[in-house]
Amino acid sequence: MALERTFSIIKPDATRRNITGKVIAKLEEGGLRVVAQKRIHMTREQAEGFYAVHRERPFFGELVDFMMSGPVVVQVLEGEDAIKRNREIMGDTNPKDASPGTIRAEFAESIGENTVHGSDAPETAAVEIKFFFTDAEIVG
Ligand code: CMP
Repeated sequence: MALERTFSIIKPDATRRNITGKVIAKLEEGGLRVVAQKRIHMTREQAEGFYAVHRERPFFGELVDFMMSGPVVVQVLEGEDAIKRNREIMGDTNPKDASPGTIRAEFAESIGENTVHGSDAPETAAVEIKFFFTDAEIVG
């Protein structure tokens, strides 16, 4: 096991319902530490740039509009095997498939409005962290 960092977004459906604290509690209880965090309202440019890999997907427009629909909380999370651990704590993308006790099983409204995003691999984590944070903003 290795100490790792991953990137996380608490999405607009969670800020709208004022449940960011409940989401962060799940992350912390799951063994992850918040080493950087800020609340932002994404611009179209940021949302399209961040999700550029999904540009050809039929849901791209809907995804971008949703991510701009309200504030989000972007985070860097640190812990043992943080990328995999965060994905376990979040649960499956579609809340219908998410295991009981996971963030998406408890809080997500649909596959699109699914409360959290988490990096899927070390390479993506590095790119995603750099997309929103400078080194000086990450305090481990
Ligand atoms: P996320 O982990 O943020 O990465 C891409 C997002 O696209 C994903 O979570 C979902 O919220 C969203 N997504 C995936 N499939 C669909 C879909 N069929 N309809 C709408 N949004 C989707």
